Amino acid sequence: MAELVAALDFKDAEEAQDMARSLAGTVPWMKVGLELFTAEGPRVVSGLKELGFKVFLDLKFFDIPNTVRGAVRSAARLGADMVNIHALGGERMAAAAMEGAAQGAGFGPGPLVLAVTMLTSMGPGDLPVAGAGDPSDMALDLAVKAKQYGLNGVVCSGLEVERIKGACGPGFACLTPGIRPSDASADDQRRVVTPARAVRSGSDYLVVGRPITRAVSPGQAALAIMGEMERA
Ligand code: C5P
Repeated sequence: MAELVAALDFKDAEEAQDMARSLAGTVPWMKVGLELFTAEGPRVVSGLKELGFKVFLDLKFFDIPNTVRGAVRSAARLGADMVNIHALGGERMAAAAMEGAAQGAGFGPGPLVLAVTMLTSMGPGDLPVAGAGDPSDMALDLAVKAKQYGLNGVVCSGLEVERIKGACGPGFACLTPGIRPSDASADDQRRVVTPARAVRSGSDYLVVGRPITRAVSPGQAALAIMGEMERA
């Protein structure tokens, strides 16, 4: 069964904690991204763990292998349940990330390490690379590489999950941002799908930010999305 991940894209810990408290007991996962982590640092992660959430630390690491190994090790020590790196970092960076996850895990299972394929905000023509292909085709190629590198799964659009699962197997996790209920605005996202379509395609984790966090009642919005996921 697919799980819902709420994206806590807030400017400070107080706003984020208020939102997290209103979703505690409903949504299993919280995602801490660049804005919140840059402002508040590790204490945000420990606060969410205390509220009982599983935490996806979405910092999209992309650096030389030694630096990424250390960053993932630190994230694992913090108690993050999932982290991500860029698939474009290649095999040695991916291997270093897996080493860091194991080193930081202690006696626990350690975080899942996923690879970002192509950002869901990128549509055809958005990649600033001459001769770049279709973003969905590139996401599939990068997912196949990520699987070969021994990573646990990928971040991709719901549009790509079926092909990625077909190529990489059902056990290779697909986490999909760019989820929009049919009546919601796409905002800056380009490759979007509804919660139902993401679940039917086989997505394991659905990341939803603004359709929940900017709703009049975030708890109700989350419940409606989870209802749609269950029916699918
Ligand atoms: O508000 P919205 O639902 O668009 O939020 C999506 C979240 O997922 C944001 O925090 C964004 O940084 C993240 N994300 C994404 N596309 C990726 C990876 C992460 O939109 N490929």
